[in-house]
Amino acid sequence: MFLQRAWRQVAFGVYGFTQFTKSGFQEHSKKFKAEDMGVQMEGKNCLVTGGNSGIGFATAEGLASRGATVYIVCRNKEKGEAALSKIQANTGNKNIHLEICDLSSIREIKSFASRFSSENKPIHVLVNNAGLLENNRVTTAEGLELNFAVNVAGTFAMTELMMPLLEKAAPDARVITVSSGGMYITPLSKDLQYSEPNFDGVTQYARNKRIQVALTEKWSQIYGEKEIGFYTMHPGWAQTPGVAKSLPTFSEKLAGKLRTSEEGADTVVWLALQPKEKLVSGAFYFDRAEAPKHLALAGTANSHSFIDAIADELRVICSLPLSAEVSVK
Ligand SMILES: NC(=O)c1ccc[n+]([C@@H]2O[C@H](COP(=O)([O-])OP(=O)(O)OC[C@H]3O[C@@H](n4cnc5c(N)ncnc54)[C@H](OP(=O)(O)O)[C@@H]3O)[C@@H](O)[C@H]2O)c1
Repeated sequence: MFLQRAWRQVAFGVYGFTQFTKSGFQEHSKKFKAEDMGVQMEGKNCLVTGGNSGIGFATAEGLASRGATVYIVCRNKEKGEAALSKIQANTGNKNIHLEICDLSSIREIKSFASRFSSENKPIHVLVNNAGLLENNRVTTAEGLELNFAVNVAGTFAMTELMMPLLEKAAPDARVITVSSGGMYITPLSKDLQYSEPNFDGVTQYARNKRIQVALTEKWSQIYGEKEIGFYTMHPGWAQTPGVAKSLPTFSEKLAGKLRTSEEGADTVVWLALQPKEKLVSGAFYFDRAEAPKHLALAGTANSHSFIDAIADELRVICSLPLSAEVSVK
C-alpha cells in the first residue's frame, strides 16, 4: 500500500514535470491542427463556472471570441463584472452575461438553476470549471467540506440541474469538466468529505478530481441516449491566481515553467468546438487528445466501480431526485 502510494507520487511527478509544464504544451502543440480552432459559435449558449479568473476566464474569452453567447457563473459580483467588461472589450462580443452563484452552496445552485431555466434557453456547452484547493478543513454553512462542496457537489448539482437545458441543445450539447492531473495520485474514495483525522487538502482535492473523472464516465453511460457528450480534461499546470494562492511553493519553484491560463484552457475550448463524432463521451482529455485515466501500476482503475454508490450519495447530499430524470420547475 505504502509502496504503491509512493510509486503513484513518483510516476505523477515525472509525468507532470515532463508533460504538464509549458514545455509539455509547446511540444504537444506541434501536433495541433489550426483548423480545429477555426469554428464559429454564433447561436450557441455556453455556461462557464468560475469564468472570472484563470482558466475559466480564458475559456469564456475563447468561446466569446468565436461568437458564442457566454454566461459566466461567479460568486463575486465585482470580480464577475470586471471579467465581463474585459471579455466584451477584448472580443467585441456583447453577448456575455454574468450570473451570480456561490457554487459551494447547493441552495444557491438550485436557486440559480431555477432562475436560469425559467428562460428556457438551450445550453450547448456547460463548462464545470470553478474549483479550489483549500488546504484547511473548512465547512460550508450547509455543513459540507469546502473542497468537496465546490469541486464535487457543486459540479454534480449544476450538471444534473442543467440536464433539461442541455437536452434542448442535443445532439450538439456537451458538458466539459475541468479536472486535474492531480487525480492520478489517488483511487476513487468513498470518504467524500475527508472524515479521517489530519486533513490533507492536496489529497482531498485529488480525490475530488478523481470523482469528476468517474462521474463523467457514469454520466456518459446513463445519459448516452440523450445525445449529450460528457468530457473531463486536465489543463496541465498553469499559472493562475488559484495556483498562486493554494500552492505558493509549487508556484514559486516552477515560476516561468508553468503554462499560461490560455494554454491551460486550450483543451476546454477545443472540446467545445470539435464535432462530437470526433470525441469520446466519458473520456479524459489532455492537450487535445484522449489521455489515460490511470498511471501504469498505480492500482487506481478498479476503484471506479464505487461510482454508482457515490452518485447515489451525491443525490442525497444535494437533495436531488434519485431517478436520473431531473427536471427544474
Ligand atoms: N491552474 C492549474 O494548473 C490547474 C491544474 C489542474 C486543474 N485546475 C483546475 O482548473 C480550474 C480553474 O482553476 P484555476 O487554476 O483557473 O484557478 P482560479 O484562478 O482560482 O479560478 C477558479 C475559479 O473558480 C471560482 N470559484 C471557486 N470557488 C467558488 C465558489 N464557491 N463559487 C463560485 N465560484 C468559485 C473562482 O472564483 P473567485 O475568483 O471568486 O475565487 C474562480 O473564478 C479548477 O477546477 C482547478 O481545479 C487548474
